Amino acid sequence: NDHAIGIDIGGTNTKYGIVNHRGQIIFEGSIKTDQYPTIDEFIDALYGKLQPEIDAMKDVNIVGIGLGAPNGNFYTGTIDYAPNLRWKGIVPLAQLVTEKFGITAKLTNDANAAAVGEMMYGAARGMKDFIMITLGTGVGSGIFANGELVLGHDGFAGELGHSIVIPGGRLHPHTGLYGSLESYASATGVTVTAKEFLSGTAEASILRETPTDDLNSKIVFDAAIAGDAIAMKVFEFTGNILGMALANFVTFSSPQAIILFGGLTKAGDILMKPVKDSMERNLLPIFRNKIQLIFSELKESDAAILGASALVW
Ligand code: BGC
Ligand code: NA
Repeated sequence: NDHAIGIDIGGTNTKYGIVNHRGQIIFEGSIKTDQYPTIDEFIDALYGKLQPEIDAMKDVNIVGIGLGAPNGNFYTGTIDYAPNLRWKGIVPLAQLVTEKFGITAKLTNDANAAAVGEMMYGAARGMKDFIMITLGTGVGSGIFANGELVLGHDGFAGELGHSIVIPGGRLHPHTGLYGSLESYASATGVTVTAKEFLSGTAEASILRETPTDDLNSKIVFDAAIAGDAIAMKVFEFTGNILGMALANFVTFSSPQAIILFGGLTKAGDILMKPVKDSMERNLLPIFRNKIQLIFSELKESDAAILGASALVW
């Protein structure tokens, strides 16, 4: 009765699950990633949550642990210089988790894990060429081309969130890059845009009811859903930039679909419509009206947990 553990480490939340061979998650939970100043404290917390469950499941045999993390590297099992995590430098995550649990752990990039999960169990079943874009604390991607996940020479392929979309644009506080996609299309990016728009006008907005420091992307999309003009403009602006970036990515690998995943996709059509309009407008004519632009079919985080657990099989 072999099972695997899948763990999806995000900039804000870490979600874990115990998964069977059919891709069913039989137990899941989460902890706050950014609450742990050191990697050891983080792994201890995961162990404290998972080990009692493992002990209690007498008929279940855990054969391995699959991990997905921002800037995670499949070849080395390390997280290298993650801009959105507190643990700086090179973190030998797979090794540390293997030692703590006494079970072999393997690591990959979080967005790559999500792409694998979507391919095995979600909207990308049967697809050979697609790009998974994850929109959360960071912006990541997993690229399938010719039926294979693109890893690249050193395992860092698909860092599309760090593509430059606006020359001389916003400074990313952790990478030093100006105008990268992550500075606009992440949850933080949306919040920064809202603050800029609010301070640039005296126009009324329900966003003004929240103290500036407390604004977050959820508040902005709730306001957009309620029809707030400034909040809607924030999503138009964000969608416009993201759609242009997606049009660029299409030219790399001629995908059948682009699948959007992650916290920001909760904004639904408010995000999707401007993204689609902008992507189509910026596409080379041979690609127009051909690329399926869709949301992940899997429940939030499940794609990444499943994809990480697939590392074990
Ligand atoms: C990282 C990627 C990651 C993405 C989403 C980016 O900042 O560079 O590796 O996939 O965030 O977490
Ligand atoms: Na990736």
